[in-house]
Amino acid sequence: MSKERVLSGMRPTGALHLGHYHGALKNWVRLQSEMECFYFVADWHALTTHYEDASVIEQHVYEMVIDWLAAGLDPAQCTIFLQSRLPEHAELFTLLAMGTPIGWLERVPTYKDQQEKLNDKDLSTYGFLGYPLLQAADILIYKANYVPVGEDQASHVELTREAARRFNHLYGRERDAQQRIAASLAKLPRDSAKRLEKSRKQYQETGDAKALEGALAYMAQAPELDPDDRERLSGHFKGTGRTVLIEPQVLLTPTSRLPGLDGAKMSKSYNNAIALREDADSVAQKVKRMPTDPARIKRTDVGDPLKCPVWQFHQVYSDEPTRAWVTQGCTTAGIGCLACKQPVIDGILAEQQPMRERAQAYLDHPQLVRDIVDAGTQRARTAAQQTMREVREAIGLNY
Ligand code: TRP
Ligand code: SF4
Repeated sequence: MSKERVLSGMRPTGALHLGHYHGALKNWVRLQSEMECFYFVADWHALTTHYEDASVIEQHVYEMVIDWLAAGLDPAQCTIFLQSRLPEHAELFTLLAMGTPIGWLERVPTYKDQQEKLNDKDLSTYGFLGYPLLQAADILIYKANYVPVGEDQASHVELTREAARRFNHLYGRERDAQQRIAASLAKLPRDSAKRLEKSRKQYQETGDAKALEGALAYMAQAPELDPDDRERLSGHFKGTGRTVLIEPQVLLTPTSRLPGLDGAKMSKSYNNAIALREDADSVAQKVKRMPTDPARIKRTDVGDPLKCPVWQFHQVYSDEPTRAWVTQGCTTAGIGCLACKQPVIDGILAEQQPMRERAQAYLDHPQLVRDIVDAGTQRARTAAQQTMREVREAIGLNY
């Protein structure tokens, strides 16, 4: 049996930081050994908000892939690729757009939120409205079962499910459906076929789930049927038509436990971030300059870790004895803030060390990164083209 498929993407709009690592990448790395994972650079999505300064995107495409590899994505275990190399995504986006009500997109919460938040940009564009539908195409084209994303993206996965359902409803019926169903049923012994039809009517008229289950179980083991027959008949039985596109599930990534240096969400635009591959001196400088409990003005003032962003870093980077040392030392003015920060600096540097080493190999040989993306894009293309053949066939575009 093939492994279940995972798909996720990131927009290449800046260097990744430790918030991305703890919020998303660490999870991607874990998943790659459990499922068949596809991870891609969503450069078209970046264009929806950066269409006026696309050079930012160009700068960060390969840098971001290096960040991924540094964090531990292994090209032998997962498929890494570039959205804009696969025009198939745009084709599916166009085809889905035909039957998607505008209201569905206007009601996605990120649409208004982001327009308000990024108010220095003109986001009253067709492309920005379509953002979640392009994301739906990214997901559906790989028939992904799971989409690991943060809470802010959950509504996009929900829209993806609606788009899949709508597509299957509109096009999931084969044109000569009745004949094909009859032909599949004719492969079965006469009285079995009759009993199945009776169960189907019962299910569709009275909603009797047992009748449906019984019929599906019988078909699953009937040696006369091939997989196409089974799929056709199960659509006929459920009344849904054939499943061309499958509905993915969101795999919610818990929000990052790591805030920014000032305690707010870590973000490059808030100037409170530590880059994934930031150099050691700069990391130490930044942590030393972190604000602490404002009540500790003098060394002799006692403090409260709960009012200090450094404490949140200890939650991520320090062991239990160190945390006990902090609580004790802070609340009695037994330690100074600089001393308190040292284990955090050590913890971050230790976490970054293997990342810096892995990245160095790719910085020395940039061609390696391009080769990884080329190979991944090739694998992705095979899967995407297969789905597009099925999609065109379902709509009836094969003239
Ligand atoms: N919108 C996502 C984000 O901003 C990026 C993205 C684009 C994505 N396409 C996707 C994520 C498909 C998951 C699946 O983070
Ligand atoms: Fe924050 Fe540590 Fe200073 Fe307490 S001792 S205020 S926890 S940095």
